[in-house]
Amino acid sequence: MRHFLADDDLSPAEQAQVLDLAAELKAAPYDAKPLAGPRTVAMIFDKQTLRTQASFAAGIAELGGHPMLVDGALAGIGVRESVHDVAKVLGRQASMIVWRTYAQSRLEEMAEHAGVPVVNALTDDFHPCQLLADLLTIREHKQRLAGLSVAFVGDGACNMGNSWLLAGATAGMHVRLSSPEGYAPDREMVERAAAIAAQTGGSATLEPNPVTAVTGADVVVTDTWISMGKEDEAAARAAVFAPYSLTSRLLAHAADDAIVLHCLPAYRGKEIDAEVLDGPQSVVWDEAENRRHAQKAILTFLLEAR
Ligand code: NVA
Repeated sequence: MRHFLADDDLSPAEQAQVLDLAAELKAAPYDAKPLAGPRTVAMIFDKQTLRTQASFAAGIAELGGHPMLVDGALAGIGVRESVHDVAKVLGRQASMIVWRTYAQSRLEEMAEHAGVPVVNALTDDFHPCQLLADLLTIREHKQRLAGLSVAFVGDGACNMGNSWLLAGATAGMHVRLSSPEGYAPDREMVERAAAIAAQTGGSATLEPNPVTAVTGADVVVTDTWISMGKEDEAAARAAVFAPYSLTSRLLAHAADDAIVLHCLPAYRGKEIDAEVLDGPQSVVWDEAENRRHAQKAILTFLLEAR
């Protein structure tokens, strides 16, 4: 039984295979029906969502399946009943489970007991479906991944920072993470990415100076400074992160043909300026659309790998 809980659950070859499949599914969105029946995929949200719910629901329908929305607040997973019991129950109703939650350990426990593939739709630690969409988008605009340099500027300790390290390294990219002191990813995560990069020819490094990180980059990425669950730190974070704002001035240090990614939701004037997010180098709407194609590909891959 295969699951997709973290970016490095896919080997470099498997990641490339999933991205190829995503491109095929994007070209012919209504041809493949691996969920015909329709088979049900449970989507559980313990945190807010827009793109993830919309893209999974649309994608599951396109694959011939039925998206079953489970409201995390109503289900009270871990409060009203244990993760173990929810896994046992949903595993009898659904062919796969897609879950957005807090601790990665909750997702791991679900995967252990569900008896069906489990997909990470964002945890505190990782956002691997987003990264598949990001890589698909970069491939579309740059025709390759390996060897490209990516600068991630902002909260390196959040799910997106970790996922960029692992997924970028898996793709053979050179990932440079630039964060203020105290907001860098754990050393263990950097080492985990560096070990992958040693096999793929990529690299994973921390570069506290945002100008140095962005200089010459092919891809520049940022994310909100205040991830879901960190709302009470908003004021303190705004001050610390200000020098890491993705402005036109900072972007000017990147390669002339650099593209800008942001997983959204975006806060214009905070982590990214409006003229960058809405400017000619931004590919964020392609990126948002590609959630659907990438997720259809990972669902299909997991179904076939069972
Ligand atoms: N790091 C952000 C990503 C949102 C899609 C968060 O966890 O809120």
